[in-house]
Amino acid sequence: MAVHDDIALDEEFAQSAMRGSLFRRLLAYTRPYRGALVLNLVLSVLATASTLLGPKLVQFGMDRYLEPALGAAAREPGSGISAEATRGIGLVSLLYLLNLLIGWALSVATVRAAVSVGQGTMNDLRLAVFEHIQRLSLNYFDRTHQGRIIARADTDIDSLDRILTWGGSQLLSSALTLAGVVGWMALHDLRLALAVCAVLPPLALATHWFHVRGREAYRRLRGTMSRLTAAMAENISGVRVVQAFGREEENLERFGRLHEDFTERWVRSARVFHTYMPFVGFLSGIATATVLGFGGLRVRGGHLTVGELAAFILYLGMFFGPIQTLGDLYNALLSGAARAERIFGLLDTEPQVRDAAGAPPLPVLRGDVAFEGVGFRYDTTPPDRWVLKGLSFQVRAGQTVALVGATGSGKTSIVSLLARFYEPQEGRILLDGVADPGGALRGGLDPRRHSLESLHRQLGIVTQENFLFSGTVMDNLKFGRPEATDEEVFSAARRLGTHDLLRGLPSGYATEVGERGANFSAGERQLITITRAMVADPRILILDEATSAVDPQSERLIQQALERLFARRTSVVIAHRLSTVQHADLILVLDQGRLLERGTHDSLLALGGRYAALHAEFVHE
Ligand SMILES: Nc1ncnc2c1ncn2[C@@H]1O[C@H](COP(=O)(O)OP(=O)(O)OP(=O)(O)O)[C@@H](O)[C@H]1O
Ligand SMILES: [Mg+2]
Repeated sequence: MAVHDDIALDEEFAQSAMRGSLFRRLLAYTRPYRGALVLNLVLSVLATASTLLGPKLVQFGMDRYLEPALGAAAREPGSGISAEATRGIGLVSLLYLLNLLIGWALSVATVRAAVSVGQGTMNDLRLAVFEHIQRLSLNYFDRTHQGRIIARADTDIDSLDRILTWGGSQLLSSALTLAGVVGWMALHDLRLALAVCAVLPPLALATHWFHVRGREAYRRLRGTMSRLTAAMAENISGVRVVQAFGREEENLERFGRLHEDFTERWVRSARVFHTYMPFVGFLSGIATATVLGFGGLRVRGGHLTVGELAAFILYLGMFFGPIQTLGDLYNALLSGAARAERIFGLLDTEPQVRDAAGAPPLPVLRGDVAFEGVGFRYDTTPPDRWVLKGLSFQVRAGQTVALVGATGSGKTSIVSLLARFYEPQEGRILLDGVADPGGALRGGLDPRRHSLESLHRQLGIVTQENFLFSGTVMDNLKFGRPEATDEEVFSAARRLGTHDLLRGLPSGYATEVGERGANFSAGERQLITITRAMVADPRILILDEATSAVDPQSERLIQQALERLFARRTSVVIAHRLSTVQHADLILVLDQGRLLERGTHDSLLALGGRYAALHAEFVHE
């Protein structure tokens, strides 16, 4: 589904031309490299001049030395070519060679300068995108297909290479070459020049056909290509499920069909290209024949020297290249516009949750938490539904609150709000209020008025995802507090009781983490993520199903350690195993986003409601 959206998006964008504002914005990224850009342009002008000089030298050598010498030799048979003519021709040949060398050196230097502009700009863009993605709120990732985000950060930027690296110099040198060639031809023999121009209309028509058909074919090709990649990626990440359900044959067949589609479109797109190129070759042959035939007549009529005729043919060879380059550039500009638009679209997406201008950091928190009439829905939640509704509760600093409820009842959503990954549509969340005599919290800090970073620094979160990053186990443990020493990490693990297990990994703390931590068992991953949260030394700890994969005995040990460690900090614990939550100071029982019951283990049992029923089942197991 998402892949089809991508294709629709591609097609829609492929139509848009590079608007001025977009182009200016892209150019702004080249500003730090302006020196290299100017150098690049100057060098490419010089390189073009050197290229244009070549035929001129040939013409000079032929007219000044070769032809008179040949004429003299013809008049006086047996006299041979004069020493002066031989010297002259040798000199001109040397000059020609020297010019070639200079042109070559200039081209190399142009490429260097061009690459430093292009790569520099693309790196900056890539960094900007990476940085921005990190700042985006989770709601963006809920809405946007991961593949599409990666495409933006990766292939979209890569494909700007054509414009950013080569665009300026190619545009300049193609235009100059064309102007030089056409100008020279018109100045030396307008009639012959006009005769050559007879090939232009068919060339223009063919080029237009090529661009329209070529773009269409290429767009279709890309559509199947992205479908192919998506199928491949899905099959790789889901390989276990594929094998478990014995779907290899079907998937292979489906992939094969996609591939047939791809091949067919590839052939079609190649056919367009391979029809166009030989046609251009054919036209250039006709032009050359015209110059030879008609030009020969002009020489005999005395309108043109032999040297000029030779130069004409040489210049003609420089005529078609720039036309094609300009056409290519135009195409690149069109697709580049689409790419740039998507990149800037991403860069312009404001994070939903962001700091107000000049928001001060939160002070060191005591750890009271209050939810007041919180109502919340995700971007994709239907408008008539709420994920959380009318939710109010308070936790005092140092207390443990447990969230209990069926799958999908909103437990993770509550902690996501507490961590300000999202913001509630109704009500508010306050930290560190002052308790009034009735026990309710008053006053307090609204995290929305403070910096996000200062909140996250004081929270320790173990999510259901247990995400580990590539690097060593030690790197992962220091993720929340990179400045922690190894000794601090060891002591946190010792206090938590995970030290022995971590030391017992294949290379201990230095064990490399495979992609997403696939080389660890689910329980080991949980122990690493809990230790990671501990190393960060948070004021508020959130454990979302943090010990669900650990064996009951280890779970109990960790639970006891956490109770000790968090005696004076607030913790929010989510667990399906009721044994892990019964010591909590407050248990909240949720049902479809609403608070059903609240109290301690004993009071809830006495109440005889949902919690008591759950507990009865649990005990029977
Ligand atoms: N990122 C999201 N985008 C849209 N809807 C979501 C998102 N995450 C959760 N939901 C929906 O919100 C509701 C509450 O989900 P939540 O993850 O809070 O449940 P939970 O109580 O943590 O469940 P579990 O015990 O399975 O972890 C569910 O109906 C779920 O489908
Ligand atoms: Mg959950």
